[in-house]
Amino acid sequence: MSETTGTETPELDILDGVPDPVILLDAARKVIRLNQAALRFFEIDFQGRDLTFLIRHPNVLAAVDAVLAGKGVQQDDVTIARDVPRQFTVDVSPVRTGENANEQGAMLVMHDVTAERNAEEMRADFVANVSHELRSPLSSLVGFIETLRGPARDDPEARTRFLGIMESEAQRMTRLIGDLLSLSKVEADKHIPPEDYVKLPDLLGSIADSFSVRAAKRNMGIDLDIDLDLPAVIGEQDELTIVFQNLIANAISYGREGTRIRISVKPVDRIPNAGDPGIAICVADSGDGVAPEQIPRLTERFYRVDKGRSRSMGGTGLGLAIVKHIISRHRGRLAIESTVGEGSRFTVYLPRDQEPPHR
Ligand SMILES: Nc1ncnc2c1ncn2[C@@H]1O[C@H](COP(=O)(O)OP(=O)(O)O)[C@@H](O)[C@H]1O
Ligand SMILES: [Mg+2]
Repeated sequence: MSETTGTETPELDILDGVPDPVILLDAARKVIRLNQAALRFFEIDFQGRDLTFLIRHPNVLAAVDAVLAGKGVQQDDVTIARDVPRQFTVDVSPVRTGENANEQGAMLVMHDVTAERNAEEMRADFVANVSHELRSPLSSLVGFIETLRGPARDDPEARTRFLGIMESEAQRMTRLIGDLLSLSKVEADKHIPPEDYVKLPDLLGSIADSFSVRAAKRNMGIDLDIDLDLPAVIGEQDELTIVFQNLIANAISYGREGTRIRISVKPVDRIPNAGDPGIAICVADSGDGVAPEQIPRLTERFYRVDKGRSRSMGGTGLGLAIVKHIISRHRGRLAIESTVGEGSRFTVYLPRDQEPPHR
């Protein structure tokens, strides 16, 4: 903190309380002062130097020059790169500077809008993706309706085949809409921690049973290795059901035919990267696996390693995105390990209940 001298106006200290970077300039565009946020951002105090030492963006310089020339408040959106490019809305307003406050200076306030812009971009991408995903089954439906009305009108064999395809396209749309609704519900509830107690052995046992027919179709089986006196976890039954349904469905879809899926549940002293005691639920398959560079992207909405394969297995590309959101609402973690040509392990870590259940 600099010592306060008689000539410093008290307003200057107020600037340090502003969370956005603020730069004060004199009539000659020289830097009079940076507030604390600006010092943190630029890392060097260029007091007494021209503004271009800090910012060279032509729009910002033009806005500052306009203010110094007596124009009113100016505003512009610019990208400024320090280590990584960030987007700012820069406000430039006239201020009186100089010993007797008789000079026309300027004050720049830089409001970081990177996060907002990224969120906007993600929303736009998401809408574009959803529209695309809905359009392809729809156009296929419309195409088959036209064919059934026209060329295939009197062809019972074609009719049966086309109706089968139409049914599966309609089911694809139903699944997509179901997943979109789950995703939006989980997102809406993400700040409300779950309160119920869930018995994992019962939950996993019944989910595994419900998938046995589907696994058998690919000549696969499901093995459960569960410690039966596991403490209950705090969670929401419906949401945890969605998590394990998705992981098991993926293991069936992307595991190799004729192999077995292994589900194990065991307590752990520390959840990786968190430290609290927890319960680890692992769903492992033997299959093609996923390359290391793809792993971080698997939980992105609509990301699939092999689009054709995901489609043919009835995937929507939203499963792991939903899984990730639910686990984060449960204050848990998802760890994905995979070896190409061998298989994958998806481990869900849930915080262990510290107190015994009261009911
Ligand atoms: N057990 C697994 N083994 C290999 N790849 C997997 C596994 N689980 C998920 N993936 C990959 O992650 C992608 C995204 O999974 P998910 O979000 O469930 O979408 P979907 O299964 O509908 O395609 C899948 O398309 C697949 O490429
Ligand atoms: Mg899936």
